[in-house]
Amino acid sequence: MMHSRIRTLEQYHVAYKQSIDDPDTFWGDIAEPFTWRRKWDKVRGGEFSPEGRSTWFEGARLNLTENCLDRHLAQRGNKLAIIFEPNDPKTRHLRLTYRELHEQTCQFANVLLKNGVKKGDRVIIYMPMIPQLAIAVLACARIGAVHSVVFAGFSATAIADRVNDAEAQVVLTADGLNRGAKQIPVKAVVDEALQNCPSVRRVIVVEHTGWPVQWQAGRDAWYHDEVKDVEKECPAAEMDAEDPLFILYTSGSTGKPKGVVHTQAGYMVWADFTFRNVFQVEENDVYWCTADIGWVTGHTYGLYGPLLAGSTSLMFEGVPTYPSPGRFWEVIDKHHVTIFYTAPTAIRSLMAAPIDHVLAYSLSSLRVLGSVGEPINEEAWHWYHQHVGKGRCPIVDTWWQTETGGIMISALAGITPSVPARAGLPLPGVHPVLLNQDGTEIEGNDQEGYLAIKDSWPGIIRTTWGDHERARQTYFTPYPGYYFTGDGARRDESGLYRIIGRVDDVINVSGHRFGTAEIENAINQSEYVVESAVVGYPHDVKGQGIYAYVICQNGVPTTDIDLQVTEASIIEAVVAEIGRIAKPDKIQIVSGLPKTRSGKIMRRILRKVAEGETSNLGDVSTLLDPLVVDEIVAGKR
Ligand code: PRX
Repeated sequence: MMHSRIRTLEQYHVAYKQSIDDPDTFWGDIAEPFTWRRKWDKVRGGEFSPEGRSTWFEGARLNLTENCLDRHLAQRGNKLAIIFEPNDPKTRHLRLTYRELHEQTCQFANVLLKNGVKKGDRVIIYMPMIPQLAIAVLACARIGAVHSVVFAGFSATAIADRVNDAEAQVVLTADGLNRGAKQIPVKAVVDEALQNCPSVRRVIVVEHTGWPVQWQAGRDAWYHDEVKDVEKECPAAEMDAEDPLFILYTSGSTGKPKGVVHTQAGYMVWADFTFRNVFQVEENDVYWCTADIGWVTGHTYGLYGPLLAGSTSLMFEGVPTYPSPGRFWEVIDKHHVTIFYTAPTAIRSLMAAPIDHVLAYSLSSLRVLGSVGEPINEEAWHWYHQHVGKGRCPIVDTWWQTETGGIMISALAGITPSVPARAGLPLPGVHPVLLNQDGTEIEGNDQEGYLAIKDSWPGIIRTTWGDHERARQTYFTPYPGYYFTGDGARRDESGLYRIIGRVDDVINVSGHRFGTAEIENAINQSEYVVESAVVGYPHDVKGQGIYAYVICQNGVPTTDIDLQVTEASIIEAVVAEIGRIAKPDKIQIVSGLPKTRSGKIMRRILRKVAEGETSNLGDVSTLLDPLVVDEIVAGKR
């Protein structure tokens, strides 16, 4: 039986069972229709264990862009691949057919080749959400270069860290970026970053805003100059199934962000399968994923998934609230969007605006709604369902991670159950389990535990760039025999999964992941700071906010002006080290932190205080100095 497209609940159950009982046959069948230069020797291989790494479709040879572009030319050459909606609604939108996208990808790929980029080289991309970003990513894949997109909101230091970790020689960027009312001189940020990046020999700059830029002769080149004399065809590099496709840096509970590595064939099959099935995509859909390509959602469901399926994907440069909180709805109306995929934080921020912003537009084209990045609270779910979906569009609450490559637990739109605050059932190929603290599996429904995945799936993370040990330690050694997600979950009475949130020191701010250690490290760069501890707390719009407890050189400031100066310095340190997106929402300057006699910070207490708890802080008797707790409670922000 062919399961590549599941259309009924019964088909889902049959497919799910086969995917678990006989994954080789299941995924072998699904992989058949793609364009392969050579078929695989083995579907599932390697080792799903702390010692090894998984492989999929070993021995196969392919190029992902042949599957995203060339494969569609005969039948869909004139179909729209990308609709680009600019930041400013008064600027004209742009449309690219599959043929045009193919041609421009080939041209960009030739520019890369001309600039000495070779198969396996790493290319850092730091660009606004404009078509050239999508094209740059595809151009890398075309020639077998490993792309690493850095969200253009990260700081110069964050770029430098990523360039150096990936040992990238080439950076692709633009002159500037408009995001809502904000303007970011993107090229200048890259210039600053590259002061500390000896490996970079070439920066290719796309002209977008026309703003003046500084120029480093010999290193910098304008894209429009480079593209003048290149061919419109570029042969696709033949890649091995397990060659790296991209690195995407993401935060964990310790140290600097790590480079999650995805490879070619498994990622392709997983992106395509999950995209088509979760959203139940049809030929004439206009699909819009609001995530920036700088995040994994933008990779898999803004770019690769839709192109693999031959869909029309809308790309939006702006933000939901600019120039008004009606912008999303206006764009849906204007382009007749049928499938809309966004984050709970966006929904919550738009819910707060007068409902007239929604009512002003026709949303009658919509068919399917999606949510991703963090748990969607029931209130937001119902608002989304009622006001955006007008009660007739199924909502898919899709749980997954940078490391999983694609959606793992979610409803298939209109087919499997969609219940508020439940991600739902696992996708075929995904074998979730709930574990106890000691690693034993919790059987039955109506249970809660650590969410882990038993057995490999095609989109699984292969390694962390340059440091396989880190991948082992993070994902495979906590519970040997399982991939550990870092999330807690509940399986309800009907077997549907509800994701509770992170169980490690990772906080999820507006759907973006930050390690508390990473933010603390940034705060500690301020000249005033001695030590800090960061926790998450519930935030109405962001899901979680960042609460920082900080010990300063001169103790707790006694004047407002001292306090302002200190806080500004702390914020500046975070903005410089990570970016504006990781700015603490609340800073409390304290004279001490609750530590045990062995020097460990008791975060449980800090979390409770940040959540607004003043009593019931649990046992504080093991603290070195229980009195600091009173001070912290008294000084809560
Ligand atoms: O805690 C889960 C949360 O986001 C984490 C993954 O973050 P990231 O790798 O940045 O990927 C975000 C986009 C896939 C998860 O460990 N998360 C993601 N989706 C959901 C979610 N939590 C609840 N429900 C979701 N639908």
